[in-house]
Amino acid sequence: MEFQIEVNNRMIRVEEGQTLLSALRDHGFRIPTLCHMNRFSPTGACRLCVVEVDGRRDLVTSCSCPVENGMKVRTNSQRVIRARKSLVELLLSNHPDDCLYCQRNGHCELQLLAEEMNIKERKYFGQKNRQFPDYSSTSVARDPAKCILCSRCVRMCEEVQLVTAIDFISRGNRTSVNSAFSKGLNMSTCIHCGQCIQVCPTAALFDISHVEKVQGAIERKDRQVVFFISPAAISSVTEQLKLKSKHQTMPRIVAALKRIGAAKVFDLGPAIDANIIEEAKQLADRLQNNDSASMPMLSSCCPSWVKYIETFRPESLPALAQNPSPQHTFGRSLKSNHAGLVGTDREKIYSVSVMPCVANKYEASLEKNTRKGVSDVDAVLTVRELFQLLKAYGLDIPQMEDEKPDEPFNNASSAAWKYSYSGGKAEAMAYEAYRLLNNGKTDNFRFIVPKNTAGKRETRVTVGKHQLGFAWVSGIAEAEAYLHQLEEEKRNDIHYIEVMACSGGCVGGGGQPISRGFENARQRKKISIDMEKCCRYKYPSDHKASEK
Ligand code: SF4
Ligand code: SF4
Ligand code: FES
Repeated sequence: MEFQIEVNNRMIRVEEGQTLLSALRDHGFRIPTLCHMNRFSPTGACRLCVVEVDGRRDLVTSCSCPVENGMKVRTNSQRVIRARKSLVELLLSNHPDDCLYCQRNGHCELQLLAEEMNIKERKYFGQKNRQFPDYSSTSVARDPAKCILCSRCVRMCEEVQLVTAIDFISRGNRTSVNSAFSKGLNMSTCIHCGQCIQVCPTAALFDISHVEKVQGAIERKDRQVVFFISPAAISSVTEQLKLKSKHQTMPRIVAALKRIGAAKVFDLGPAIDANIIEEAKQLADRLQNNDSASMPMLSSCCPSWVKYIETFRPESLPALAQNPSPQHTFGRSLKSNHAGLVGTDREKIYSVSVMPCVANKYEASLEKNTRKGVSDVDAVLTVRELFQLLKAYGLDIPQMEDEKPDEPFNNASSAAWKYSYSGGKAEAMAYEAYRLLNNGKTDNFRFIVPKNTAGKRETRVTVGKHQLGFAWVSGIAEAEAYLHQLEEEKRNDIHYIEVMACSGGCVGGGGQPISRGFENARQRKKISIDMEKCCRYKYPSDHKASEK
């Protein structure tokens, strides 16, 4: 039901059940927030969204207040503006004054609010809480001194990822966000998804940076630095720089990296094709052997999902696919079979992946991915770090002259782009499994994506007399709920489940540029779909078939 409320002497139509904040924002009123996250329940932790409502003595937090018929609201009275300003001043009083050196300088929500509220000097002085940074994890670093206790990371970790690796500890002015018993994050149940970094408004959470490592390797004469770039990272650079297609983005990234001293720059796409072909073989084998103990097969390309299974769901380990992620397929093959392509020995290759993901940093550090103490992937740059690296060398991607990625890894199928969003890999897997189970014929392959089934999606693919069920979920809570439902209902009609730990898949990865809400991820998905059209081959094996 719709009704009207009065805001700043203007009548607006609102929907019953809406919060005041969403109604105000729908009508273009600018209301500052810090703890609010769309699609999460409100906590009222920061009180920055306060407004004045007629008949209420206290200011009201608009993020948690439902609209009421006939309400009279003021969003910009002196009282409201003064209250918001004092709240930001109080937060700043316990915040380090190191904005110039802070990695979120220019992108920090607290800094932006201070500017917006015309705060020019520290108003409150007192003893600051003394807190130490935590660099123990291989992927995510924490600086509690910059934490403003908004609880966004805690809610993300608990409600979306079901991990609760971090939570509030202690009370009063000693309250902080920390891992259990204040041990380092490396001792926690963290699955390295980096989603907490994505939602943190300040630099209290950030990547374990590999930028300086890469710069160091570039400067060494006895190292050949080889980059390989994930299609999801290319979509993201395209989106951030508002470029048009891969014909503009990848060649310009290649040129920029060559300019700073890269020996080779490869496209990770072919390793994604290889990953899909290998995983489809495993699926076909399990189906042909009626291996029900390992069904439905669960994808294994997302390192956070694999870590989640190892930590919280060991009973599902037999169902996991057995192949490594494309990053490691590529890194290993580069340092074994393909060292010759770089024209040097494997020991002299310094391999750097550019990924949308921080969990790939953790994956690269695992002993199983290391030989004689050297990882197959020496450094992992998130998209954020790629921008930092190029900025440090004064390079601007749009200004670069095009340069082709190095051969032979420059002709992936469109599946490499599909891989970047939830459901894309499931489709390519269905095609490859269909081909294997149907004597190489694919003419009648149909993969129909159902509409309006947000969160959990599934479809059937008919192979001869059999129906195969494929499903895809993203976000650990969605994945867990779906697996639980299959178990409860004792269903055995689903044979493969693609799981990505980040909502929407790698387009929403923890290593993507910081964005509020899902709009940027949606945009990256659109770009990936656009880029699929530029590929000569639709699915990985089409490429091989055309060579025969
Ligand atoms: S990286 Fe993921 S699992 Fe780890 S603390 Fe952050 S949100 Fe939780
Ligand atoms: S670490 Fe960041 S997201 Fe988490 S409570 Fe502190 S400021 Fe908020
Ligand atoms: S945004 Fe409403 S209380 Fe924080």
